[in-house]
Formats: sequence, structure tokens, C-alpha cells
Amino acid sequence: MSNLIQNAMKLAVEKAKAYEGATAPNPPVGATGLDIHGEVLSVQAHEKAGTPHAEVKVIEDCKKRGMLDRLHTLVVTLEPCNHVGKTGPCTEAIIQSPVQRIFYGAKDPNPKVQGAGASMLVKAGLEVHTVPDSQKECEELIRPFAHWVVTGRPWITVKTAFDEKGSMIPPQGQKTFTSETSLVLAHQLRKKSDAILTGSGTIMADLPEFTVRKTPDHSEKMRWLVYMDRRGRVTEDWINLSKTRGFKPYRGTDLEQAIEFLGSQGVVETLVEAGPTLVASILESGLWNEQVRITKSNSKNTADHVEVVYKDTV
Ligand SMILES: NC(=O)c1ccc[n+]([C@@H]2O[C@H](COP(=O)([O-])OP(=O)(O)OC[C@H]3O[C@@H](n4cnc5c(N)ncnc54)[C@H](OP(=O)(O)O)[C@@H]3O)[C@@H](O)[C@H]2O)c1
Repeated sequence: MSNLIQNAMKLAVEKAKAYEGATAPNPPVGATGLDIHGEVLSVQAHEKAGTPHAEVKVIEDCKKRGMLDRLHTLVVTLEPCNHVGKTGPCTEAIIQSPVQRIFYGAKDPNPKVQGAGASMLVKAGLEVHTVPDSQKECEELIRPFAHWVVTGRPWITVKTAFDEKGSMIPPQGQKTFTSETSLVLAHQLRKKSDAILTGSGTIMADLPEFTVRKTPDHSEKMRWLVYMDRRGRVTEDWINLSKTRGFKPYRGTDLEQAIEFLGSQGVVETLVEAGPTLVASILESGLWNEQVRITKSNSKNTADHVEVVYKDTV
């Protein structure tokens, strides 16, 4: 595989990553357009559901800049789609463009359409290749989407912070105890998610905002905020405040039902930010996918320890 293709894929992956958490119920996707000599003409990403897909944006951008006739190769993180969603199939736009070759990283994980996009392009006489060296990275990019499209449930990341003694409870009068770097990481995880799942205990103790503040958020992003609260102890005030903060609050009384509900609403990725009671319950239920364990450093000179554990590897 030529370095030019590898480099184009790298650019496409980087561009797509900027929109992780912005595209639900679609996956983040990036695409790079090259001319016949491998010169980069355009790098684009899918930004939001209902707006054009990455490969179509490359075609449109080249057209707008008067270089459509030079567009020869498309390098895409995900197999181009062949189904009519809100924006029409990408395969059709590609077939009607001057593009001659397609390289893609991850196969379409949707069991109903698997392989249809690539075979449609081959049928139309285009050269279609996978990029084996980038497959893993491209699959990671769409991992939450692949889980949602197959199971109908969101990918669940459980974020947990522990102090030096292994406790999740902050000292009296504090809401957090980890380093600034760990707080930034927590806000980046929020940014990637379409929903936050918490428990009544955390709300009553901390009145948390759950907003993305330590990194710029996606513009106009609204998230679901599921609060597990069987006894109805969460106040109307806090629920109303959450709406002014851009959340769609939802009271959950049964964990599995709440997660199914989120999946039905097109929530692809959910971040659990809860205390030890609900975290234990979620880990025990097996309904989680990834746990981010942050352990506070016991020295000012060393960083907090961050460990990511996947359910299948536990
Ligand atoms: N270190 C961290 O990462 C972290 C993160 C968040 C919070 N916290 C800290 O955690 C403390 C609060 O801990 P917590 O354990 O009381 O709060 P929590 O786990 O957030 O909430 C527990 C409550 O959730 C409700 N719940 C509903 N469905 C549940 C289910 N299936 N399983 C378990 N609980 C369910 C229960 O109330 P009902 O019976 O009324 O439904 C339960 O009392 C605070 O001090 C907060 O600062 C730490």
C-alpha cells in the first residue's frame, strides 16, 4: 500500500475524530480526495446526521473549488453507504463523479447492508480496495456505532475516579479530587457521548452540571441525561436546570429499560458518571462496554493513572 494512501487515510481519520460524539445516530467518518498523482485535494468529515457524508463533501468541495475533473481517488475511513438515508446513497454520488478508485478502512458493520456499498462500486466499474493497515484504527472509530447498529443499545463507557485509598467519594466539601488533566479527560469523554447516565445519590451529593466545559463542545449538541431515581428524590429544580444546560432529562427506574430507551432514541454512546452504588450495579449487569479507571496520584509530581478496560478483556 503506497505511503500516499496511508497518509490520506491518516488525514481522514484525524478529521473524523474531531466529530466523535457529533454524528449520532451516524458514525464519524472522514474522507480524503486525491488527484491521479496522489496530491491531496480535499479532506472532509461527516459533521452531523442529516448533513452530507464525508465522501460526498469531498466531491462537493472539489466541485466548488473548480477541481472536480482532477478528483481521481477517494480514501474513506468507512465503506461508502449504498442506502438512502436522509442524504441519498454515497455510492451513487461517487459513480456519477470522476472518481476512479476507492480505498476504505472499515467495512459497513450494519448487518443489513454489509458489503453492499463496495460491491455496488465494483459493479459500476470502479477499482475498490481495503486498507488492511488502517482497518483496526478505522474500526475503533466506529466501535460505538457498530455496537449500536448490531444490538440496538448504546456503547456504555463507565468513568470512575478513585483516590489513593480506592474510594470514589470526594473529601467533604469537594466534588472532585483528581488532577486538572484527568478533569479534561472526563470532559472529553462527555463531549464524545450522546447521553450521560447518573444516579440520584450523585445528584443529591454534588448537584453536578454534566456540561462540557474543559474542552470546546460540539455546537448545538443536546444530550440525554438519564438519572436513575426509583424513589423520586431528585428535585424538580435540578431537572429544570438541566434543561437550561442543554440536556433532555429522563428519569430511569430500571437500568436495562433505560438503556434500551436510549438506543431507541439514536443514542450511540453513553457515559456513566455515577457513584459506587450505581457503578457496581452497571458493572454487575454486564450492560457496559468500557471502563475508564482514573486513580489519583499520591504525588504532585506524577500524573494520575488512567486505565481503560473493555468488557470482553476483563
Ligand atoms: N469518583 C467518581 O468517579 C464519582 C462519580 C460520581 C459520583 N461520585 C460520588 O459518589 C457519591 C454518591 O454515591 P452513590 O453511590 O450514593 O450515588 P449513585 O451511585 O450515583 O446513585 C445511587 C442511587 O441510584 C439509584 N439507582 C437507581 N437504579 C439503580 C440501580 N439499578 N442500581 C443502583 N442504584 C440505582 C438508587 O436510588 P433509588 O433507590 O432512589 O433509585 C441509588 O441510591 C457522591 O459523593 C459523589 O461525589 C464519585
